[in-house]
Order: sequence, then C-alpha cells, then structure tokens
Amino acid sequence: MSEAAPKRTAILISGRGSNMAALVKAAEAQDFPAEISLVLSNREDAAGLDFAKEHGVPTLVLSHKGYSDRLAFDAALDAYLKAEGIEIVCLAGFMRLLTPWLVERWRNRMINVHPSLLPSFKGLHTHERALEAGVRFHGCTVHFVRAEMDEGPIILQAAVPVEADDTPDVLAARVLAQEHVIYPKGLELLAAGRLKVADERVEITGAKGGLPALVSPGV
Ligand code: GAR
Repeated sequence: MSEAAPKRTAILISGRGSNMAALVKAAEAQDFPAEISLVLSNREDAAGLDFAKEHGVPTLVLSHKGYSDRLAFDAALDAYLKAEGIEIVCLAGFMRLLTPWLVERWRNRMINVHPSLLPSFKGLHTHERALEAGVRFHGCTVHFVRAEMDEGPIILQAAVPVEADDTPDVLAARVLAQEHVIYPKGLELLAAGRLKVADERVEITGAKGGLPALVSPGV
C-alpha cells in the first residue's frame, strides 16, 4: 500500500453529504492513501456537516452570499484550500458552478461524482430523465472536473439495471449505493498516484489483475 503521507483532501458539499460520509469512512482505514482534512459547505444548513464533525473532520462554511461574484467566491475558496495545504478536492453534491479559473487551478486534482452514466444525462433530475428515456441501464460516474458542467475524463463508472416498476426515488437509491462504492475507489486511485490523464482519457496504472467489474448484483 501507499507509503507516502496520505494526500490532504477537501470535500465540498451543499446538502445531505452521503457521498462525503462514504469518503470519510473509507479514509478512516489505516492504509488509505488520502486523509479528509476539510469538509467545506457553501450552506450552513448542510446536513452533512454534522457527520463530519462527529468524525473529527474540520469543517468550514463558506457562504457565497458575502461575495460580489463567482470569481470572488472561488478566489476565497481557493485561498482556504491553499491555507489548509489541500492537495485533492472532491465535489460531493456541491451544487454550485465553479469558475473555469478555479477548475483550471485544480486540473486533474479535483474530482466529482455524478448520478448517471456520463456523457448521458448531464445536469439535474438524472433519474427522472433516465426513466423517461427508457434506458435499461443507468448508473453513476466518478470523473475529473472540467469547466463545462458534468464533463471531464471518466475515472470509474458503475451500472445498475432499470426495473419496470422503478420510480425516480427507487432508482436514485440503487444508483446512490453504487456512488458510495466507486467514489472512495476513485479517490483511492487518485491519491495513490494511479491515474494518468492523456488526451482527456484516464488510464489506471498499476492495476493488479485489473479492477473488478463495477456492476451491481442482479444484472
Ligand atoms: C449525489 O447523487 C451526487 O451524485 C449528485 O448529488 C447527490 C448528492 O448527494 N451530484 C450531482 O448531481 C452533481 N452533478 P449526497 O449529498 O448525499 O452525496
């Protein structure tokens, strides 16, 4: 396993924070190559902040209300991350568009989880839209962040079946369970230095016997 110091990682949330919780729990393992050094929310009422505090993770609320524009907010955000010596940023339900300036500063060091098999269903209401489209498989994606919303080199994906009687909530729960599997795995790969980006495609290096197929049971 990794012998280098664990990579100092910040998680940005806006609400529930279940993916943040999955990352925090994974990083509590002795040999995990990342440590969660900061959970930052742009909303003070984000439910996930309580979980972070209970797990001894420093938290910070940075409301966009005090800033004149997006760039001013992102500059302040970047300054906090720098002051904390953050090396990796994970977006976890952070419902705020970041400026290209900030995204570029964190190029290949900022990752996101999205509740669809990208490039399908970017944006909001992905589960409703998947049901409307009649797809047989849906899922989730961990990817590097780029300036365009829900774009960027794909690190991991997990597929789940769409059942005939699914409602958006039922499908969302099936997908979320897989988000909680692949997001910690994606962070682990990045922190361990096992991701190489070339021509906007991700190569996973040093795989021992390859990665397991990330398809949920029942397919
Ligand atoms: C998750 O389903 C995540 O994939 C989604 O928001 C939810 C946050 O839940 N993110 C996006 O849609 C980003 N485009 P959580 O706060 O419980 O992790």
